[in-house]
Amino acid sequence: MAVIAVELAGRSYEVRVGHGLLRDLADHAAPFLRKEIVPVVADRNARRHWGATVEASLASAGKLARWYDVEPGEGSKSWRELERLTDWMLAEGVERGDHVVALGGGVVGDLTGFACAILKRGCGFIQVPTTLLAQVDSSVGGKTAINSAAGKNLVGAFHQPALVLADLAALDTLRDREMRAGYAEVLKYGLLGDADFFAWLEENGAAVLARDPAALEHAVATSIATKARIVAEDERETTGARALLNLGHTFGHAFEAETGFSDRLLHGEAVALGMVLAARYSARRGLLAEEASQRLTRAVDAAGLPAEISALNLSCSGRDLADHMLHDKKMDAGTLPFLLLRSIGAAFLAKDVALDDVAQFLDGELQAH
Ligand code: GLY
Repeated sequence: MAVIAVELAGRSYEVRVGHGLLRDLADHAAPFLRKEIVPVVADRNARRHWGATVEASLASAGKLARWYDVEPGEGSKSWRELERLTDWMLAEGVERGDHVVALGGGVVGDLTGFACAILKRGCGFIQVPTTLLAQVDSSVGGKTAINSAAGKNLVGAFHQPALVLADLAALDTLRDREMRAGYAEVLKYGLLGDADFFAWLEENGAAVLARDPAALEHAVATSIATKARIVAEDERETTGARALLNLGHTFGHAFEAETGFSDRLLHGEAVALGMVLAARYSARRGLLAEEASQRLTRAVDAAGLPAEISALNLSCSGRDLADHMLHDKKMDAGTLPFLLLRSIGAAFLAKDVALDDVAQFLDGELQAH
């Protein structure tokens, strides 16, 4: 098992990564579980796969799970579901000193985290992410949110969990497509700050995707360690350090918007293509060597992720895509900060990117393949 500390003054916590952690959930979570009844908010599928394991572990410690089921999918990150969940937590008598367990992917983690941020002005929670994307990204760092009619994750709070348990065995039941989508965020950590890790992924990416235990643990723990370091440096995304985690997300957001935030394109798939385009755009501006951009294209392609816009079958213009970016929540005083690359392992925030130029670049990409 790997243990990574997220160091935050007064609110430090551990992320534990390994195989079989759900089986020992009660032991890991013991310092946070004061009562016999343990509220567990779970994605329906995660409960189907892991409910019995969680119950057996809690029972061995004389505890009982009280389940709250969440329908899979972004639709559950809604005001309606938030109201239903907080009403349930109040009815269950959850108090500030209690900890609610969030079992599932990013939807459950974001929804539960936000409910816990506002319940009685804040109660505790434990993240138990069961998807690769949630393990390496959304469960760590305290961003919680629901969606609004105006866009994704626009209503939320920073609220750090007390503990994160990333059980790699949970990934055995994940569809390959979800696994690949999560892997895009793993590649991101190599790109934005760790060239050695990127090179390791070039060699070992197939083993990670095949869920080889040692390769998977190394990839997940290294990703989380990078995220933990960045979150500790810039918890509330005010200095620019945490913004690096958005590499590929501005281009990616445009593709997600154009495909209706649907299963047609998963978030991780959009991020993968977004990172490729961020690299190509960086190369076009003479900031990044062409060879580095091609290395990324090959790594994305080898992982079975989209590396060309043509894979999306879009019928839109570069301008249409650039217009979506105007609604990105990272817009700041009328400008959209872009994450670009200087080399593999060195991303930076560029504030001088003109959307017209991006639209022209995307037109070229739309026509190229
Ligand atoms: N997912 C980006 C962040 O946590 O900042």
